Amino acid sequence: MPYAIYHFPPNFRWGVATASHQVEGDNKRNQWWNWEQQPGRIAEGHRSGLACNWWQNAEADFDYAMSMGLTSLRLSIEWSRVEVAPGEIDTTALDRYREMLQALKDRGITPMVTLHHFSDPLWLAQKGGWSNPAVISYFSHYVEQVVQALGEFATCWCTLNEPNVYASLGYIRGVFPPGEQNIKKAALVLRHMLQAHAAAYKLIHRLQAAASVGLAHNIRFFDPVNPRSPRDRMVARIQDLWFNRTTTAAIWNGIWLPPVGYGPAFGMRHTLDWIGLNYYTRDLIAYDKNAGPGYGRVERTPDAELMDGGYGEFYPEGLARALRRLARLGIPIHITENGIPDTDDDQRPRALLLHLYHLWRALQGNIPVQSYHHWTLVDNFEWAEGWTLPFGLIEMDLRTQKRKSRPSADLYAAIARGNAITPELIDAYAPELRPLLLPV
Ligand code: BGC
Repeated sequence: MPYAIYHFPPNFRWGVATASHQVEGDNKRNQWWNWEQQPGRIAEGHRSGLACNWWQNAEADFDYAMSMGLTSLRLSIEWSRVEVAPGEIDTTALDRYREMLQALKDRGITPMVTLHHFSDPLWLAQKGGWSNPAVISYFSHYVEQVVQALGEFATCWCTLNEPNVYASLGYIRGVFPPGEQNIKKAALVLRHMLQAHAAAYKLIHRLQAAASVGLAHNIRFFDPVNPRSPRDRMVARIQDLWFNRTTTAAIWNGIWLPPVGYGPAFGMRHTLDWIGLNYYTRDLIAYDKNAGPGYGRVERTPDAELMDGGYGEFYPEGLARALRRLARLGIPIHITENGIPDTDDDQRPRALLLHLYHLWRALQGNIPVQSYHHWTLVDNFEWAEGWTLPFGLIEMDLRTQKRKSRPSADLYAAIARGNAITPELIDAYAPELRPLLLPV
């Protein structure tokens, strides 16, 4: 029997990722809470409600993370809790975050702190949110308060989560608040987010000598349905430019790409110490003049395996592709999110093994990946999809708040503890992968 162990580098960090609004519960002061009260906005009329009750007891889930041998945890700070009205800081909220970060430290887990993950204070949304240029100074002020209060416990800061997703879903597809379909506004929102990132990057470095600052970028591939069709190729490329390339072009190369801007992005070049990759799936794109903005119609690869709940194609190779792309920046990479919605856990073990195999391959090619954060530890509130897409390694019964480990949690724990994928794990969790992972 062939026997090979896929070892990961000695200091590699294994973690999980979450976001405040998805887990804390009772986040009543942000625009999402408001959105959830409007009929028809969230699948099956779901609401975030108590979520995973982290505001009261994140510590119980931190215990799970520790028992799994994880050494990193990405969480986000809820702006609407910290700054209840413009300039009005609630120090008790900051105290609770200090307590949470202390709890992680006590468990030997290093935090990665995201400063904005989709949720905005309602007061900001009422001023036009990220379409208002004033957001850049509002964000800086908030970041300053957070870094001053929490800097004792954290040095790894992720300014923003997925500006491309925030702008696309809120301002093009209209499925996130504020529910608009306006490309110009989407471009403006993205521009302000990237400017706010660059300002926060500089500010955090002024405040904290040891800071390491990055941004979590979602890469989704758009491949032409027919690679020989110039029109399919063109529309796929337009989507790729807008969604994948504008962010790094601005904050790494210092260049605005249309429609976000044109020419030099002054003061924004090299405002990253690392780049975060959030990777999930890909789309095939066909030219269709009736398909709305971008003229691209999404199709699925014939016979492709799909993920639950219409989440898209199961495409683990995309992780290696995305890493190769980001490697061109020449800076460290953190995988800030990767996961799969899977209620019965029949795909997740295989998904984990395959994605981690592609990560391992990237590491063999000297791509400087420093950590992997699985999305997510416990089933949580999945935005417009409500509670219908369970991404947790641990299942949660929303009514009772009871947790129950899925087999994937044991698999992930074994990989994290051993810092390796072994043939025993492949045989136990996805023996059908033997021919690919352990070829004779
Ligand atoms: C977001 C998460 C979300 C996950 C799964 C990512 O794009 O950052 O908040 O839960 O995807 O859909």
